[in-house]
Amino acid sequence: MNNLLVKELVLQSLERERCGVRVYETAVESATNGDLRAEWMRYLAHTRRHVQVLENVCKKFAFDTEETSSARQIVHDRGEALVATMREARDAGDPAAAQFVACECVMRAETEDYVDWETLDLIARLCKHVPPLTSELVHKLVRQPRVRAPLEEAWA
Ligand SMILES: [Fe+2]
Repeated sequence: MNNLLVKELVLQSLERERCGVRVYETAVESATNGDLRAEWMRYLAHTRRHVQVLENVCKKFAFDTEETSSARQIVHDRGEALVATMREARDAGDPAAAQFVACECVMRAETEDYVDWETLDLIARLCKHVPPLTSELVHKLVRQPRVRAPLEEAWA
C-alpha cells in the first residue's frame, strides 16, 4: 500500500479523533440527562485514548502529527461545525432542544469515527508488515462494546 496514502488516512483519523474530543466536551455541556452525560463522559475518555493511540502510531511511522492537508482541513472544519452547531443550539436557550442537537452531532461524529476505524482495520490487514497498526490492535478498538441505552432513552 502507498505509504503517502496510509499517512493521509492516519492523519485524517487523528484529526477526526481530536475533533471528537471537542465534540464530546461540548456535548457533555449540553446534556441535561445525567445518564447521557455520564455516557458521553465515558466516550470522551475513550476518544482521548484514541487520540493517544493514533499519536503513537504517527510516532512509530515517523508521521508529523501536525502535518496539514486539504482533506485533513476538511475533516477539521466538519468537526468544528458540529461543535459550533451544539453551541448555537445551547445559546438558543432551550436545554432539551440543545441536548437533542448534541445527540445528533454525537451520532454524526461517531459514525465517521466508526468508518475511520474500519478503514484503519483494512489498512492494517493490507500492511501486516507494519508493527504498530496490527489487525489485533485495531480490531480490539473497533469492536469494543458500546452501551447505547442512555442515548436511545434521550431520543425517546
Ligand atoms: Fe474514536
